[in-house]
Amino acid sequence: MRLLNKLSLAEKLLHTGFIFLVGLGLLCAEAYLFVTHTGLDGKSGVTLKDIQISYYGDRSSSKLQSVLPTMMNNGGVSADEKPVMTKAIDHWIASGQTKAEYESQIKPLIAQHCLMCHSDAMSKQLHNPPLSTYDDVKSVAKVNEGMSYNTMFMNGMVHLTVLGMLFWIAGWLFLQTRIVDQIKVIAVITPFLALMLDFSGWFATKSNPEFAWMVLIGGALSCPIALLEMGLSLLDMWFGLPSFLQQRIVTEVPGGKSKS
Ligand code: HEC
Repeated sequence: MRLLNKLSLAEKLLHTGFIFLVGLGLLCAEAYLFVTHTGLDGKSGVTLKDIQISYYGDRSSSKLQSVLPTMMNNGGVSADEKPVMTKAIDHWIASGQTKAEYESQIKPLIAQHCLMCHSDAMSKQLHNPPLSTYDDVKSVAKVNEGMSYNTMFMNGMVHLTVLGMLFWIAGWLFLQTRIVDQIKVIAVITPFLALMLDFSGWFATKSNPEFAWMVLIGGALSCPIALLEMGLSLLDMWFGLPSFLQQRIVTEVPGGKSKS
């Protein structure tokens, strides 16, 4: 193995091209994660709550409940009736959406206020969900249970294989720098451990939102550390390193004592 700064121009260009392209790819990945996770809880930035909503879902509210205020206006529900309808629907959803309660409490309200637009015929015209049967209403009353296991395995497949390979290459290049050995040891293993933490965090958070910190910390340490490795490799290859980062070379002198 030769140190990066000792490589030929062609070799340096090869590694530099790789680092720039893959580095840009990792930045895109970070940006993508940011825009798909940010603001789910109504606040800017990626928060613990955003991660909980992504994986565990928001089980306190269904689509039906979130659009109900607007839809009651559409249906011309009077101010007195609104709280009655809201309460009936909340109760039905919270108590497991039984057919009996649907028949006695929910169906009459929907027939009166919603079916003019949500009958089978109208829903084809208006492109809205039909609400004429128990199953129809139940399907819009589902609570958001977060990302499906299918999607998580699919994401896992892509994430673990692609990032695993990139982290290996970034780490391998980083090992050819003149950086202090202890920093190398920590830097090369961190992205792998962080990715494992992130990945197991998805499943942990899916069953218990308390574990969202695993995703946040794992995500914050995986790609950014690999990017740092790539940046320092470039620096050492082309310009050299600040002295506090450099491994001191210990040379044997003839007297038998070592001197640094
Ligand atoms: C005046 C016509 C009209 C009435 C009355 C009406 N809706 Fe809607 N509804 C729509 C239209 C149009 C859409 C699709 C566009 C949208 O989401 O705004 C829709 C969409 C929906 C959706 C799906 C929202 C989504 O994001 O997919 C639900 C659930 C819903 N309505 C429930 C109701 C309920 C419950 C009532 C009765 C309180 C009701 N609607 C009354 C016109 C109506």
